[in-house]
Amino acid sequence: MRIGMLTGGGDCPGLNAVIRAVVRKGEGVYGHNLIGFRHGWRGVVECQTVDLTVGTTRGILHRGGTILGTSRTNPYKTDDGVRRVLDTLKRERVDALVAIGGEDTLGVASQLTDDGVRIVGVPKTIDNDLSATDFTFGFDTAVQIATDAIDRLHTTAESHDRVMVVEVMGRHAGWIATEAGIAGGAAEILIPEEDFDIERVCDDLKKRHAKGRFASIVVVAEGAEPKEGTMATQSGEVDQFGHVRLGGISNLVAEEIEKRTGFETRVTILGHVQRGGTPTAFDRILATRFGIAAIDAAHDGAFGQMVALQGGEIVRCPIADAVGELKTVDRGLFHGVAEVFFR
Ligand code: F6P
Repeated sequence: MRIGMLTGGGDCPGLNAVIRAVVRKGEGVYGHNLIGFRHGWRGVVECQTVDLTVGTTRGILHRGGTILGTSRTNPYKTDDGVRRVLDTLKRERVDALVAIGGEDTLGVASQLTDDGVRIVGVPKTIDNDLSATDFTFGFDTAVQIATDAIDRLHTTAESHDRVMVVEVMGRHAGWIATEAGIAGGAAEILIPEEDFDIERVCDDLKKRHAKGRFASIVVVAEGAEPKEGTMATQSGEVDQFGHVRLGGISNLVAEEIEKRTGFETRVTILGHVQRGGTPTAFDRILATRFGIAAIDAAHDGAFGQMVALQGGEIVRCPIADAVGELKTVDRGLFHGVAEVFFR
């Protein structure tokens, strides 16, 4: 078989580990021929290819980012995009595609499956918001980076008796905020799943101070929103998938905290640091398991399927199952565990 591979959406630690595993088993065990498409779906639309062999994918296991490059191109929102995708696949004699991505990239994969393209999906995103899989690779690394940052911010919070507001990524899911908040000992965690009441947050912080705890970490997910009419909100640009560019809500939260409590407050927006650098061992192993399972699925002709982690096992499920609905934060984890440490 001749198998094409692409990485789409935000770069994410572990992408190279998937590429390496697909190639190692695809070429080494099955004798398939592999090619990469540059910059996600854009490379398929524009027919930008690169040879993928065991030789060209050596030494990339621990490297962050993606050797294939990535983009947020949506062929369904590009002039003649789908026809050009089909032309490229025909011209390059591609029998099957391995698409590695999150909600957007796999959403396109699901639509192309309906349009007759033979695709296997691999779930990636630091946001951990894909349904049908317990975890996506990249998430563990992002949580570790955010936790390390919170550990460091405790130092300043304690030395200066300050409130430190830390903004983490995650788009419309609060997974990174919840897990890094639990691991980092946050006094408050604001997630997109539940509009926050700034007055309640400030009351909690005042109660902490009254008990003699003058240093507080407030973790804010970039997609967190205040209850309507309680404080200012933000707006931003929209991409080809209709997603608004998030970031900056923590500045508004910090302003309100300082104004309403009088406590000195500072902001740290972690941003793309959370996606950068080497993947954790957990993410390297998960990505490697996904890569092996993806090439097995392509070899078996299990198209329209995505590999997923369910209860510790790698399974196959329809790509459509992963993209239908966002996987939001487990409320048991948030209310039953994280919230116990608020105040
Ligand atoms: O989906 C991953 C993610 O890092 C989100 O957490 C974040 O909102 C978004 O991508 C940022 O995208 P970009 O790199 O295009 O700014």
